Amino acid sequence: MNTSISGFSKLSKSQKIDWIVETHFSNQEEAKATLKQYWNSDNKLQQLHDEFIENTITNYYLPFGVAPNFLINGKMLTIPMAIEESSVVAAASKAAKFWLKRGGFKTEVLSTTKIGQVHFMFYGKTETLQAFFQSVKSKLQTDAKPITENMEKRGGGILDIELRNKTEDLAGYYQLHATFDTLDAMGANFINSCLEQFSSTFKREALLFDGFTAVEKQIEIVMSILSNYVPNCIVRAEVSCPVSELSDDKTIDPDAFAEKFIQAVKIAEIEPYRAVTHNKGIMNGIDAVVLATGNDFRAVEAGVHAYASRDGQYRSLTHAKIENGIFTFWMEIPLALGTVGGLTGLHPLVKFAMRLLHNPSAKELMEIVAVAGLAQNFAALRSLTTTGIQEGHMKMHLMNILNQFDASAEEKVQIIHHFKTHIVTHRAVVEAIENLRK
Ligand code: MEV
Repeated sequence: MNTSISGFSKLSKSQKIDWIVETHFSNQEEAKATLKQYWNSDNKLQQLHDEFIENTITNYYLPFGVAPNFLINGKMLTIPMAIEESSVVAAASKAAKFWLKRGGFKTEVLSTTKIGQVHFMFYGKTETLQAFFQSVKSKLQTDAKPITENMEKRGGGILDIELRNKTEDLAGYYQLHATFDTLDAMGANFINSCLEQFSSTFKREALLFDGFTAVEKQIEIVMSILSNYVPNCIVRAEVSCPVSELSDDKTIDPDAFAEKFIQAVKIAEIEPYRAVTHNKGIMNGIDAVVLATGNDFRAVEAGVHAYASRDGQYRSLTHAKIENGIFTFWMEIPLALGTVGGLTGLHPLVKFAMRLLHNPSAKELMEIVAVAGLAQNFAALRSLTTTGIQEGHMKMHLMNILNQFDASAEEKVQIIHHFKTHIVTHRAVVEAIENLRK
């Protein structure tokens, strides 16, 4: 069967759905109903979502939850999180409460520089290219003025443009490596527009440069794009307390807990297999807040993982130590976030999330997101090094299993009560449902 189609994007929404169900589904009515049940009855709101991307056929819901009790630099916050994984919000809330009684989270933005590059090929003399670059550098900035003017008024803009010679790695390859401060904007559009302007100025001026031969004048621009690697856009988040205060459970000895916790972090610092899972747990918290606040979680993921391997080996993003009886647990990560532009002014839930966070600046959002990541890692390591992860995880997953079996409200109450004193496993839950239904 031929399942290709041309002109799909030009079809109406219902024509698209008709084609999809006719081409790919045997039960067409059921497939249509599945899509339609997620349509919003408010046409304007639905249209807003339709227009975020091409070929929207329905909405994809994720739970939007909140984790209260976060004390960050002395300020109380309730953090919004959009995530499907059952235990994440519960773990964040638990860690927030734990640290609330121990001074809360301390954060600091260490840098805010973002990077963009014009990648180009030049096969002439490097010294001549350098001379050309020096002669054109200020023109690159002046030609970009219409793009940068507003950002400059607010104190941001282009910080510098460098010529980088990469010919040792790839014959003929050079870059215009530019740095930017985009203030409260994530800055992707701003940076990309500046870079495209740099490329056209660079190409145009090369044709006029007397120092170049006819061949050298033909600089070949390969592409102009921001980098999602932002090792100079760094936020630090930290918690600390006396080791003796580390336990709120009589069964856990604080000294032994602190030692084991630090061992767990050290393992993730040197063992990549563990580090990836360790950092995945951090990203559970980070992505959820990044998504809830309408930011680009793919950009954040790519940048954070590159940073985790900046010395050539993939390592833990968090670190822990005991010094003079004080336990300190911290993380420094790159985060390119925005609180203006993009989805932030468009998506009603993003606007809600921003208000819930008291309309943070991009720097404040960096701090909040880093805290969510650190809290998540603390909660995961605390469980892993004490009870094991499955106890909490399966308790939260219980509801998913009950829903899979279409449990009624009454069945849910009885089974949840049963598992207050029994270990949750998939099999045990299925048996409990079957027993109840006998
Ligand atoms: C699960 O989503 C995240 C954890 O695996 C993180 C970790 O192992 O540190 C629990």
